[in-house]
Amino acid sequence: MAKKNSILAGLDIGTQKVAMVIAEHTDAGLEILGVGSSVSRGIKKGRLSDVEKTTQDISVALSEAELMAGCQIHQVTVSVSGNHLRGSNSHGVVAIDNGEVSPGAARRVIEAAQAVPLPAEQCILHLLCREYIVDGQSGIMDPVGMSGVRLEANLHVISSCESALGNIKKCCNKAGLSVAGLIASPLASGEAILDQEEKDLGVAVVDFGAGTVDISVYHAGSVVHSGVLTVAGLHVTRDLSQCLETSMREAEAIKLHDGAADVADVDGSTPVEVTGIGGREPRVVSRRLVAEIIQPRIEEIFEMVLESVGRSGYAEMLTSGVVLTGGAAMMPGIVSVASQVMGMPVRLGEPTGVVGLTDEIDDPSWSTAVGLAKGLRSSDLSHGALKGLTPRLMPDWLWRRWKEYF
Ligand SMILES: Nc1ncnc2c1ncn2[C@@H]1O[C@H](COP(=O)(O)OP(=O)(O)OP(=O)(O)O)[C@@H](O)[C@H]1O
Ligand SMILES: [Mg+2]
Repeated sequence: MAKKNSILAGLDIGTQKVAMVIAEHTDAGLEILGVGSSVSRGIKKGRLSDVEKTTQDISVALSEAELMAGCQIHQVTVSVSGNHLRGSNSHGVVAIDNGEVSPGAARRVIEAAQAVPLPAEQCILHLLCREYIVDGQSGIMDPVGMSGVRLEANLHVISSCESALGNIKKCCNKAGLSVAGLIASPLASGEAILDQEEKDLGVAVVDFGAGTVDISVYHAGSVVHSGVLTVAGLHVTRDLSQCLETSMREAEAIKLHDGAADVADVDGSTPVEVTGIGGREPRVVSRRLVAEIIQPRIEEIFEMVLESVGRSGYAEMLTSGVVLTGGAAMMPGIVSVASQVMGMPVRLGEPTGVVGLTDEIDDPSWSTAVGLAKGLRSSDLSHGALKGLTPRLMPDWLWRRWKEYF
C-alpha cells in the first residue's frame, strides 16, 4: 500500500466529464492507483455554472476513484479552464547590486516582471519563468552568482477570474476536498503528453474537449503562449443536430459511432440511421453526409487554433509541430485535417510516463487529469508569497530556490 503523504490526486472538472486520478510518484513514473469519472452537469464552456451539480459530480468521481485506489483523498489539484484565462508574456529589469546576482535580485526581477496590469476581477494564476538575461546574455535559467550589472527576466503570466477560482474551491470543499493547487488546463494537458525534447524544440498542445479547446505553446523548454477557445466538440454535435434534424443526444451518438473529420476517408455508401425528433419517422443518410457536416466545423476550429498560435509569434518555430489531445482528438481523420489546416506535423497525444492502472487512462480525454496529478506534489503546496504559483511547473532548480528565498 502506498504511503499516504506520497499520494496525489488530480481533478479535471470538464464540460462533459468530471475526471479524478489518484496516483503516486514512483521511480518508474507516475503510478495510477485509481480513477473515477462522472457526467459533468454544472460546467458551460469550461466554466462553472452550477455549484450544487458540480459538487455532486465531483463526489461521484471521487468515490469511484477512492474505491479503486483503496484509500481516502483529502486534497486535490484542480483544473481551471474557460475564456477568462488570459496568457501574456511580461518582462522585468533590475540593477544588479555589487556586481553579482544575489537570490534577492533574482526575486526582485520576477516581482518586477509580474507587475502586469490586470482587470479588477482577474488575479494571477501562474507565473512561469521563461528565462533570465544577464547583461544581454539570454537563455539563463539560474542567474544566481553570475557577474553583471543588469538583470532581466521573461515570464509567461496566466491570469484568471478570481470568482471562477472561488467557485471551483467552493465545490471541492463542499465535496470534502481541500484544493492543493489550481492549474490552467492548457498546462496540465501539456504536462501529461509532452516529452522534454518536444518542449525544447517547440510544440503546440491542443486539447480539443467538449466545451473548450485549450492551447499551450512551448519553446526552448518554457511556456510562451496559452489560450482557451470556447468552440469545441459540442459545436460539432450541435451542427449535426441541426443539419440532420435530430436531438443533441442522437447527434452525439452519431458523431461517436459514425463521425469522421475527413470526407476523403469516408465511403459514401455506408448508411447511418437518424432518429426523427418528436416521433417523426427515422431517416437514413450516408456516412459521407455526416462527414460533410463535421469537416467544415473542424477546419474552422483549427483555423482559430492557428490564429491563436500565430499570436504567440512562435508559429514558424514549432519544430515538433502540434500534439492533439482531449476527447475530440479520437475522431477518425482529425489528425490529417488538423495538419492540412495548420500546415504543421500533428500527432495524437495520450498520457505518457505512467505505470499501474494505465488501461484506465489510456485515451486522450484523460490527459488533463493525469497532468494535474503529475503537476504538483502534495508536499509542494503553494503558500504565502508563493500563493498562485504552480511550483511543479517551474524547473526543479527554480522551485528549490523559490522555497529557499521565501
Ligand atoms: N470517438 C470520438 N469521436 C469524436 N468525438 C469524440 C469521441 N470521443 C469523445 N469525443 C468528444 O470529445 C468531447 C469530450 O472530450 P473531453 O472529455 O476531453 O471533454 P471535457 O474535458 O469534459 O471538456 P472541456 O475540456 O471542453 O471542458 C465531446 O465533445 C465528445 O463528443
Ligand atoms: Mg478537458
